[in-house]
Amino acid sequence: MPRNLIAETLRRGLYTRVVAKRILFFQELGSTMDEARRQADAGCDEGTLVLAETQTTGRGRFNRTWVSQAGNLYFSIIFYPSVAALPFLSSLGGVAIARAIRRVTGLQPKLKWPNDVLVGGSKVAGILVESGVEGSGVKYAVLGIGINIDIDQQHLAGVPAANSLYEATGKEIARDELLTCLLHEIDALYLGLKQGQTPLAQWKGLLDTLGQQVNATSGDHSYSGLAEDIDE
Ligand code: BTN
Repeated sequence: MPRNLIAETLRRGLYTRVVAKRILFFQELGSTMDEARRQADAGCDEGTLVLAETQTTGRGRFNRTWVSQAGNLYFSIIFYPSVAALPFLSSLGGVAIARAIRRVTGLQPKLKWPNDVLVGGSKVAGILVESGVEGSGVKYAVLGIGINIDIDQQHLAGVPAANSLYEATGKEIARDELLTCLLHEIDALYLGLKQGQTPLAQWKGLLDTLGQQVNATSGDHSYSGLAEDIDE
C-alpha cells in the first residue's frame, strides 16, 4: 500500500507562496483534471492542489488514456493566470518537472515539445493544461501532471516509449520528496511568470528537439525540417 502522500509531503515541509496552500487528496478519482475544474468553478483559491493516488479515467493530450496506477504521481493545480501568462503554463510545468527529477534522482531529463518529459529517450512524465475562458479573459487554468515513479511494465505495454523513474535509475524513488521539490519549483516559476518572467530560456535549454529533423502537422498540412530555435 503506498504511503500517505499528503502526510509525508507536509511533514517534509512546504514553503510555497501560492501552490498547494490547500491540498485535496483523493484515494481514487476519475481524473484530477475534472475535480480541479469543479473546484475552479466553485471559486477555490489559486494554487489549490488536487492529488489522487489512482485515476480511473486519467487522460493525456488528445484524450489519450493516461495509465494511473497507485504509487505514482497524479495531480492538478488550479491557477487564475492572465491571458499573457496562460500559454507558458505548459512549459513552466516541463521545466519544473525536469528540475525536480534532476534534483531528487540525479537523472538529466529532457523535454520534447509540447508536453513530454523524457529520460534516456523514453517518456516518464506528461503535462496537460486545460483552461476555461470567459469573454476575452481566462476564467481558470488547470495544470495537470503525471509522473511514472514505478509502474508495472505490463501496465505500460501498448504505451510507446514510456518508462518509469525506477526503471531509469534502478533505485527506489522518494515520491514525497519529488512531489515537495516539484511543488516548490512550480511555485517559484509561477511567481516569476506573474511578474512577467517566462520560463522560455530554461525550457529551451532542456528541449530535446532542437537541432533535430522534425515533422509538424497543422490541419491537413505536414511540414518537415530542422528545428532550429523557439520564440515566444
Ligand atoms: C500527456 O502526456 O498527454 C499529458 C498527461 C497528463 C496526465 C496527468 S495525470 C494528472 C492529470 N489528470 C489527468 O487525467 N491527466 C493529468
